[in-house]
Amino acid sequence: MASPAPALLTDDADPSFAELLAGRPHLAQHAHDGLTMEEVPLARIAREVGTPTWVYSAGTLRRRYRALRDALDEAQLGAEIHFAVKANPNLAVLRTLAAEGAGADIVSEGELRLALAAGIAPAHVVFSGVGKTPGELRFALSRGVGQINAESAEEVAMISAVATELGVTADVALRVNPDVDPKTHAKITTGKSGNKFGVAIEDAPDLYARMAATPGLRPVGVAVHIGSQITAGMSAYAAAYRALAELVLALRAQGLAVERVDCGGGLGIPYRHEPAPAPAALAGAIRNTLGNLGVKLMVEPGRWISGPAGVLLAAVIIEKHTGSRRFVILDAAMNDLVRPAMYEAWHGILPVSPADHVAPVSPCDVVGPVCETGDTFARNRGLPRLEPGSLVAFLDAGAYGAAMSSTYNARPLAAEVLVDGARFAVVRERQTQEALLAGQRLPAWM
Ligand code: LLP
Repeated sequence: MASPAPALLTDDADPSFAELLAGRPHLAQHAHDGLTMEEVPLARIAREVGTPTWVYSAGTLRRRYRALRDALDEAQLGAEIHFAVKANPNLAVLRTLAAEGAGADIVSEGELRLALAAGIAPAHVVFSGVGKTPGELRFALSRGVGQINAESAEEVAMISAVATELGVTADVALRVNPDVDPKTHAKITTGKSGNKFGVAIEDAPDLYARMAATPGLRPVGVAVHIGSQITAGMSAYAAAYRALAELVLALRAQGLAVERVDCGGGLGIPYRHEPAPAPAALAGAIRNTLGNLGVKLMVEPGRWISGPAGVLLAAVIIEKHTGSRRFVILDAAMNDLVRPAMYEAWHGILPVSPADHVAPVSPCDVVGPVCETGDTFARNRGLPRLEPGSLVAFLDAGAYGAAMSSTYNARPLAAEVLVDGARFAVVRERQTQEALLAGQRLPAWM
């Protein structure tokens, strides 16, 4: 990593292996089995499924969903939780959360199909996103999604046209851009005035009033999402929610009905040792600003629920020493986990074998085999000497991990595994070399 984003760094020293484990109760080092997730040794998964492989802890998904649920309930918000499918669209992950009562926040027809396949009721789905196509809107409305978050006047017109054509009434919330800075990475900041998302808050009252007079739709409320991996406290959230509360009052003063407020996602997690806001802090910010409006409240977290629940299991291909540098070359690459390359993100890396866990560490660069320097997971990371075949686990890879992977360098998509107690199952097969080629055609003239 060239230069870590300031918001992600709070201290110069990396946490030790023991510190990384301490904050992740589903992971433990055992003298014989090495690193385990719940009751399953990761080495066993590597043996049976191969590497690289994403491994998710069902228990952690449930525990975190419930912790968020409890925090919202304790604040007496009665808020609905819509899991942001983009963070982890694995069907078994979605099914695990659906069984806990989660709804879904989706941004494409594909995500809607996944949510429905996972057993989430269409009424419990919110369709977000800045560029929904007429085809996607048709699909969503014909399936009866509970809410569409409109992001522009132009899109309101498009939703109206599609709903009218289908003879349905769409429940539409208006996503506003409150122009606040959540102090996270620029690429995942979404609620500043220069960002493409939402409508400027000053334009919202007019547009909302026009929506009330537009055929095929019913304005049901307002929505906001200011960014992701927010760790810098609650002030940006509070500012955005205060602005929303004022907007709700202004709309009501115009005689317009506002029944729902969608508070977005964005709650950050400690990848390294960032101060991670607790769900109770988010619940408090919502209660203090929006709690007395008599609206149905919604949140749409992704990372906070699924991020810590997953690891990316990888094997060492070879260690390479050249000049003064030591490179650990893995069989996972930026096509699998792109976050370090894309956001200078820091992910904990733990050796899997018991011997590697206690061996002396020295600095190395952890890289993948892809042919660009950006394919670097970590620089100057303390790891023991790792023989070919040694396993490592990237921590907190359960959100925006597999979801963002590609087949760059003609590398098949990695397998995905769900662990639940002492059981595990492959929940997405490793892409085969044949599947990687499938769909390519030579033109008739060749
Ligand atoms: N709602 C909307 C409208 C969103 O755009 C997002 C995320 C979420 C909810 C969920 O946000 P979360 O609770 O997960 O922060 N690939 C990036 C993160 C992109 C987030 C995009 N939008 C990363 O790996 O950090």
